[in-house]
Amino acid sequence: MAVDLLLGLQWGDEGKGKIVDVLTSKYNIIARFQGGPNAGHTLVFNGKKHVLHTIPSGIFHENKTNLVGNGVVIDPVIFKKELDKLEEQNVDYRKSLLISRKAHIILPTHRLLDAASEASKGKAKIGSTLKGIGPTYMDKTGRNGIRVGDIELADWKDKYRTLADKHEAMIAFYNVDVQYDLQELESEFFKSIEILKSLKFIDSEEYLHQAQKRGESILAEGAQGSLLDIDFGTYPFVTSSNTTAAGACTGLGIAPNKIGEVFGIFKAYTTRVGSGPFPTELFDEDGETMGRVGNEFGATTGRPRRCGWLDLVALRYACQINGVTQLIMMKGDVLSGFKTLKVCTAYNYKGDTIHHLPFNIEEENVTPIYTEMKGWNADLTEMTEASQMPKPLMDYIKFLEKELEIPITIVSVGPDRKQTIIR
Ligand code: IMP
Repeated sequence: MAVDLLLGLQWGDEGKGKIVDVLTSKYNIIARFQGGPNAGHTLVFNGKKHVLHTIPSGIFHENKTNLVGNGVVIDPVIFKKELDKLEEQNVDYRKSLLISRKAHIILPTHRLLDAASEASKGKAKIGSTLKGIGPTYMDKTGRNGIRVGDIELADWKDKYRTLADKHEAMIAFYNVDVQYDLQELESEFFKSIEILKSLKFIDSEEYLHQAQKRGESILAEGAQGSLLDIDFGTYPFVTSSNTTAAGACTGLGIAPNKIGEVFGIFKAYTTRVGSGPFPTELFDEDGETMGRVGNEFGATTGRPRRCGWLDLVALRYACQINGVTQLIMMKGDVLSGFKTLKVCTAYNYKGDTIHHLPFNIEEENVTPIYTEMKGWNADLTEMTEASQMPKPLMDYIKFLEKELEIPITIVSVGPDRKQTIIR
C-alpha cells in the first residue's frame, strides 16, 4: 500500500499536528520523518490543547502505531517530558510508540553548542529554537553522532564522553558567554536515557517495509515547513533537515515509488518565526491583526510569529518541490473581517516580473506583486459544510486552486478537530 505524506508548505506552524490528528483514523501507522523538538505540533480536542514536539500526532488515537523515524533527532530530556504529559492524559503509549534505532540523539552539549553558535553570530543569527537541532545533524553528517541503537551497547558512554568533551572544546572556541553546569545537565540526560530505553526500539525501515507488504496504511508526518528545508529553503535561515517530500524517503527508508498522496498544508496567510527574508511580511495593523486573531506565537518557544499576506510564488515552489496532490488550507477564519485581502502572485525581481522563487528573496531584490480580493465578514468557526462558506471565501479558495492547479480538499476553520470542512 502507498505511503501518504503530510507536509508544511510555508515556514512551519501551518497546523500539521491538527490535520495528522484529523486524518489518523484512516491510517494504521503515523511516522515522523525529520526534525526534532524544534517542532511544536498542536492538537485540540474535547476542549483541551496538547502540544507534541517529537512524538507523532497520531498518539491520542487507540490502536494506531506511532513511529519516530530514523530522520528524527531525539532529545531524551524533552522526550521524557512529552511522555509524562501523555501519562497524565492516561495515554497508553507503551504499545503504540516505536522508535527507530537509527534516529540520532541530541546531547546536552548539542544544545549548548547551538546557543554558542547563535550568540557568536550576533545580528546574523538564524533565530534557532536552540534545541540543539543544527549541531546534532552536523554530527550526523560528520559521522560522529550517537544513535538510539548505540545506547543499547555496553560502551556507548565512552563514545558519549569523547563527543561531549569535543563539544566543550568547541563551545570554548566560540568564546561567547554560555553559562552551564554540565554535571547537572548530564544527570537529567542519563535519567531520561533510561526512560527512553524502556520504550520499543526497532529497525524501522524493515518494519515499514513489512507493514507495507501486509497492506497497512502509513501517513508520514513532516515537521517545520518547505521554506525551512536545508536545501530548498531560505538558506541559511532554515532548519538542518530536509523538510520536503524527499526527506520522507530518507527519514523513513521509504522508496520514492511507494509515495501516494502528498498532502500540502498552508495557512490562508503567511507566518514566519525566527530570522530570514519574508517578502510579504506586514508591519502594519493588518499584520498585527493576523498575529492577534491567529494567536501567532511559537508552540515551542512562545516567540511572536511575523505575519504577512499569502505568497503564491513561494507556495507554488513548495507544491512543485513536494509533488503536492491535495492542498489543505488552515486558519481561513483568521482572515474574517478584512475588507480587502491581498495575495502575492508574482515578484518584481530587479525590475523584471517573475513567477518563480529566485536565489535571493531579500527585500532589496524582491517586491511582491499583489492581486486584491474581496474579504468576508462571517464567523467561520462554527461551519462544518463547504456550502456554508461565504462567497468571497469560496472565490479566494477557487482563485488559489486555479493559480496552484491543485485542489484544496480540506479547509480548517479553527483549532479543534471538529472545526474542519472536507470539500
Ligand atoms: P532550528 O531548527 O531550531 O535550528 O531553527 C532554525 C530556524 O527554523 C529558525 O528560524 C526557527 O525559528 C525555525 N523553526 C524551526 N522549527 C520550527 C517549527 O517547528 N516551526 C516554525 N519554525 C521553526
